[in-house]
Amino acid sequence: MKYQTAALFFLVLVSCQTPSIPSCPQVSEHLADQVSFPCGVVVDPSSLEFNQAYAGIVDDHFNSVTAENIMKPDALHPVEGVFDWAAADQLVDYCQRSGKRLHGHTLIWHQQLPFWMQHYQGSREDWERMFKDHITQVVSHFKGKVASWDVVNEAFNDDGSLRNTIWKEHLGPSYLEKAFRYAHEADPEAKLFYNDYSVVLAPQKRAAILAYFSQLKAQGVPIHGIGVQMHIYNGFPTDSEISQAMDDIWRAGFLVHLSELDISINPLGQAMPTPPEDELARQANRYLYIFQSFKRIPEAYQFGITIWGVSDADSWIRYFFNRDDYPLLFDDQYQPKPAFCKLISTL
Ligand code: G3I
Repeated sequence: MKYQTAALFFLVLVSCQTPSIPSCPQVSEHLADQVSFPCGVVVDPSSLEFNQAYAGIVDDHFNSVTAENIMKPDALHPVEGVFDWAAADQLVDYCQRSGKRLHGHTLIWHQQLPFWMQHYQGSREDWERMFKDHITQVVSHFKGKVASWDVVNEAFNDDGSLRNTIWKEHLGPSYLEKAFRYAHEADPEAKLFYNDYSVVLAPQKRAAILAYFSQLKAQGVPIHGIGVQMHIYNGFPTDSEISQAMDDIWRAGFLVHLSELDISINPLGQAMPTPPEDELARQANRYLYIFQSFKRIPEAYQFGITIWGVSDADSWIRYFFNRDDYPLLFDDQYQPKPAFCKLISTL
């Protein structure tokens, strides 16, 4: 009798465990083949080299790549006048071998600067020379291999004012215009972007960015597009706010790049050992809406959509916010999630 009880207890225990979220059926189609615009993903080259599941997803489903960290100033220019091209050159080789577009991220930012740059001492002319040298050396090195650049990243505050960065402090607001001019001089063929977050959630920020760069563009400054990072949530911003932002940008004459798309399902950082199925379903509908909305803008303005990570296990959100979250298209086992299958089966 006791064995039957034990067996029954075991069966009850197993059936009470949290059900693993069923990954959607294996699919043979490739995501990038479902859309006419570049479908990108941010990559970490070491994962690309050593993680077969990661590499397989990048190989199969994406035709555009952004480097998550290795093309930022601290990685490329660790010591004044000394550049470390190795990791980025490997990524260039991968993209050229696999016929994928490479988007450069990012030339000028207030974060991930090497110590020497962050604490640079010198006259206005010295700062100008250092600033121009970084941009010119980097863009020249990748000329013809990097199709586009986030020339300046996150230079505006959410209220629409210019962020007080070391660049603005030492070079004045004209650093923005100069960055684009220097990048264009180094590679006239590269498409040049301004990239920022909250471009959807903060309409006053979006209006300020579009006004600022429309004026520069009218003065002949080579600025081609706006990168809308799109680090969003299942619950906000609204679908109409997302569509409105895209429309505002293309109607202002700028290419639209949804440059860092991820959709958090746990913004409050609750304990969430496994993702709730209803949240995964909402996330799937959200990703589909974003892709379908992007398809509706004029093709001439569709620079692309870049997902900010391969699998949930790789997402910056988990370690940056130290919380459980499941923001991407593939799960921790690199299996397609409902959002991926929704895109593949509906686009
Ligand atoms: O490489 C070092 C490693 O040597 C060290 O042992 C480790 C522990 O400190 O840190 C590693 O550097 C980390 C780096 O990612 C590479 O993994 C940094 O700490 C970490 O802060 C950095 O995070 C990146 C973050 O930008 C920095 O702000 C994320 O991976 C990256 O996804 C994120 O991307 C940014 C975009 O560039 C701009 N838009 C916002 C987006 C999210 O913050």
